[in-house]
Amino acid sequence: MSVSRMAAARLAGEAPGDLLAGTSAPESALFLAIWAHHDRAPDTALAAARLAVELDPDGEFARLLALYLGSGHTRGDRVYDTPAAFQAFIRGGGNVGLYSATQEALRRHYHRFDAPTVLDVGVGDGMALLPVLDAGLSRVDVVEPSAELLARTRAGLAESGVPHRVRHARIEDVQREWDGERWTVVQSTFAFDALPPDRRSGVLEWIRDRCESFLLVVFDVPDTTRPFSPEWFLPVLAKAEQGVREYTEHRDLVGLGFLVPVVLGFFDAGSARANYEQSVPSWEAELRSAGFGTVSSHRLFDYWWQPAYVIEASR
Ligand SMILES: C[S@@+](CC[C@H](N)C(=O)[O-])C[C@H]1O[C@@H](n2cnc3c(N)ncnc32)[C@H](O)[C@@H]1O
Repeated sequence: MSVSRMAAARLAGEAPGDLLAGTSAPESALFLAIWAHHDRAPDTALAAARLAVELDPDGEFARLLALYLGSGHTRGDRVYDTPAAFQAFIRGGGNVGLYSATQEALRRHYHRFDAPTVLDVGVGDGMALLPVLDAGLSRVDVVEPSAELLARTRAGLAESGVPHRVRHARIEDVQREWDGERWTVVQSTFAFDALPPDRRSGVLEWIRDRCESFLLVVFDVPDTTRPFSPEWFLPVLAKAEQGVREYTEHRDLVGLGFLVPVVLGFFDAGSARANYEQSVPSWEAELRSAGFGTVSSHRLFDYWWQPAYVIEASR
């Protein structure tokens, strides 16, 4: 059965377990595995993932999915809590070029201001920020809810000598404390999409009134509202395969601890997601409706998942 027919069967209310026996294509087996996982049918999910491996023994995403489903696993919304996999992920593959382009964009942006102050929202372990601390910044504040990621940022900031404040918190949690603050630049690299959409507008309005310039670095992700449609599912599967193959030495760590849970999260409308990505035009519209009068974007880097963009917004 093709993925299109399986997607139709899903919409018609069939159960994934009933389709397993008639599945002979690896993509269809993966569709079934992901569908069953989200329908809370773990045995079917695991059987379907193992079938995908049998049907295509070279499929690395299928191999990792079967391992993931067969063991205790990290939820998509917890991937930054024990972040060794995320840290290995951003230090390998296409992320090397992506982060270097991001650092260059930040540096160029800071140079437009005289001794700017910066707030970094969701700074992580400082991969984007720490290498550009020498760009004439007069103060840096950072907010990050993962204690483990923040430890490295904290150490890097201390070493840099740049005046700074570090908050182990979500951005929503510092709004009251830092209500009277102003920054030249508020920035968020690959982190703002971690906020669920219903929490974003309040945060955006708060940022709007507290900076000269808001810089967002995001992926331009097409509409994700129908993740089980073949038009979304098949390209995502191909990209996931490409993504895991970018890693050799740390493939299982990156796959099991980051990429597989993030990909499964795309199919989850609920809370087990690592991110809520959207297209650049949707980000621009969201910024405008939060009261940013000037919004512009440019393409930053062609990354395997989707192209990365820098969006700049001001009142
Ligand atoms: C993909 S990582 C990006 C980290 C870093 N900015 C970078 O470029 O490497 C997303 C980060 O957003 C953080 N995050 C998640 N929810 C957040 C929130 N509500 N407020 C601030 N940061 C958040 C996560 O803990 C994680 O460190």
